[in-house]
Amino acid sequence: MAKRHFLTLMDLSPAELRGLIARAIELKQMQRDGKTYEPLKNKVLAMVFEKSSTRTRVSFEVAMSQFGGTAIFLSPRDTQLGRGEPVEDTARVLSRMVDVIMIRTYEHEKAERFAANSGVPVINALTDRHHPCQLLADMQTFYEHRGDIRGKTVAWIGDGNNMCHSYIDAARQFDFQLRIATPAEHQPDPDTLAQAGNQARLVSSPQEAVRGAHLVVTDVWASMGQEDEQGNRCQVFQPFQVNGELMAAASADAIFMHCLPAHRGEEVTAEVIDGGQSVVWDEAENRLHSQKALLELLLC
Ligand code: CP
Ligand code: NVA
Repeated sequence: MAKRHFLTLMDLSPAELRGLIARAIELKQMQRDGKTYEPLKNKVLAMVFEKSSTRTRVSFEVAMSQFGGTAIFLSPRDTQLGRGEPVEDTARVLSRMVDVIMIRTYEHEKAERFAANSGVPVINALTDRHHPCQLLADMQTFYEHRGDIRGKTVAWIGDGNNMCHSYIDAARQFDFQLRIATPAEHQPDPDTLAQAGNQARLVSSPQEAVRGAHLVVTDVWASMGQEDEQGNRCQVFQPFQVNGELMAAASADAIFMHCLPAHRGEEVTAEVIDGGQSVVWDEAENRLHSQKALLELLLC
């Protein structure tokens, strides 16, 4: 089978993505039923992390373990990557030893260069530009709670960041309407937005974004690498907080998602994230099941 990478949601077709979500739901049930399924026996995943992680690391490591394979955690603190070995050389070397590689880094172009020099599939586990693995979990979670997302309305509130860009891609691939409310100086990349045509659009306020929305999503106001801007961002983003009043303006059956980690009292209030409309714990769990489906698609 030809080698395939997963750097953005656009690397899979809409049909493949839909199949992947259905498969993730099946794999979740198999795990719940205690069935052993080890399609990746003796296979090895290398996990390159240049930024922190809880969910991504654990979900990939558990996925490989449940599939009968193993995962190796690599941080810049203990690899030559951290001492300046070129990303191209690291990719060439790792891919001669392992079967699949996952990378979390800063510049999206770095992940692209890594993939271009890898002889095995490379999975983007978050860059400054995209977080496609999180969208697999989010789409699975919406499907489980509300059925098909096609034709539904999704409100993105807050920063036009990596998650926002992956939501724009998801609107194209899963065929929903995305309304984006961000401060003027924190809008998503215009090219990414333009490629979505009329499936994703900027609106002038969070209230306008959530009106009739079936899913309300937000993320931290300062992403990894932007810690210095935290103070200033907290002021600029204050009107974009997802609170009870904003959720009340969405569709009555709206659900709330957040990729986590969350800052209660900043981008979301405790009453929302810990309330009845929040599905964030299912969303976090589904990182495991949807990534198992992704690994199976790329490797089997
Ligand atoms: N949502 C997410 O990617 O979480 P981690 O940073 O903990 O991996
Ligand atoms: N936008 C956040 C997502 C964390 C999972 C970040 O990049 O830090």
